[in-house]
Amino acid sequence: MYLSKEDEKILNGEKGYAAQKSMEILSSLGDIYGADKLIPVSSCQIAGASYKTIGEAGLFFVSEFSKSSKVKVKATLNPIGMDSKDWQRMNIKKEFAVKQLDILDAYLKMGIDCSCTCTPYLVGNRPNCGDHIAWSESSAVSFANSVLGARSNREGGPSSLASSVIGKTPNYGLHLEENRKAGIIVKVTEEIKSFSDVGALGSFVGSEIGSKIPYFKNLELDSDKLKSLGASMAASGSVALYHIEGATPEYQNAIADDIEKIEVGKEEIREAKEKLNSSEDTELICIGCPHCSVSEVEEALRIFKKEGRTFKGDIWICTSRYVKNELERRGIAQEVEKYAKLLADTCMVVAPIEDLYQKTATNSGKAATYLPSLCKQKVKFGDLESLIKDFK
Ligand code: F3S
Repeated sequence: MYLSKEDEKILNGEKGYAAQKSMEILSSLGDIYGADKLIPVSSCQIAGASYKTIGEAGLFFVSEFSKSSKVKVKATLNPIGMDSKDWQRMNIKKEFAVKQLDILDAYLKMGIDCSCTCTPYLVGNRPNCGDHIAWSESSAVSFANSVLGARSNREGGPSSLASSVIGKTPNYGLHLEENRKAGIIVKVTEEIKSFSDVGALGSFVGSEIGSKIPYFKNLELDSDKLKSLGASMAASGSVALYHIEGATPEYQNAIADDIEKIEVGKEEIREAKEKLNSSEDTELICIGCPHCSVSEVEEALRIFKKEGRTFKGDIWICTSRYVKNELERRGIAQEVEKYAKLLADTCMVVAPIEDLYQKTATNSGKAATYLPSLCKQKVKFGDLESLIKDFK
């Protein structure tokens, strides 16, 4: 990959340790994937922020970085392993909390916006159509590419951090127009209405097509369900971009001739739901994967009000601090707290929930995919309304 004189100086260590390491990461990636050059990015989303997932090695890496560098572009942080203000209420151990706060401090020191959410596009990091970005949260990458028309590869935590320090990313993959065409047409023959339908559709399609780019026909979803669809496909497969006929910004030129086609109907959705279920029983219901928007929390409150206040276990609603603050301002958070814990900064997958629960229920296809392997949970998968009905 071509490096400018300035890039070479950075690689030779003239701009300090973190910049040098960052350039090493980016130039190696560029060489591996055949990029021609580095291109500027307008923003970064940095995953790898929970002490549960990055451990001591990650804490050391981030702390070292923070000693010699600041970010050059807008950079937001993914969820961490606990609510940074309310971790005691989650029953998080003090030793974990101390390490987690050290990680947060290191990112803060670098000038990263510690919004701690996987929905940066709802909290001010919302790229424009055509913007090149370096994001490393798979659900956010999918939303940015597909719904917003921005351009990002599925970065890892270290490479998005490196891009935030350098302000550039290697030019390959989904940054190139020719790689953004659909690889398969997915005709949906069943009406997709609820979050569990969306999660099941995403789970089925992701596991069928791997990393291909799907082009959906006959699918109409609102923005909250689009984020859920992308998350589910990114978890069961490695889909980083999808098109929906008549809906997403790049659908018009997305189909090449003679591409493969599949149909997804009632039977496939039923099968996918069955696969995501491994438990009849539940100790915790959690929603907010990806993090809830204001309207999703409002909908949860409507369901709580209808179903009453006495449940047999805990309910977590995971969201960003920004959305939580907004819900407090509107008086909704206070209402929700009568039924559930409204948690900011974290989620059911990156928090150490395996220390607290064994059986978890969720309406998210992504969470239902990851909870068994990453959190040792038995999972009940369904819509919030039906999960709540069985939780009394
Ligand atoms: Fe977000 Fe956690 Fe799900 S980071 S997409 S809520 S696994």
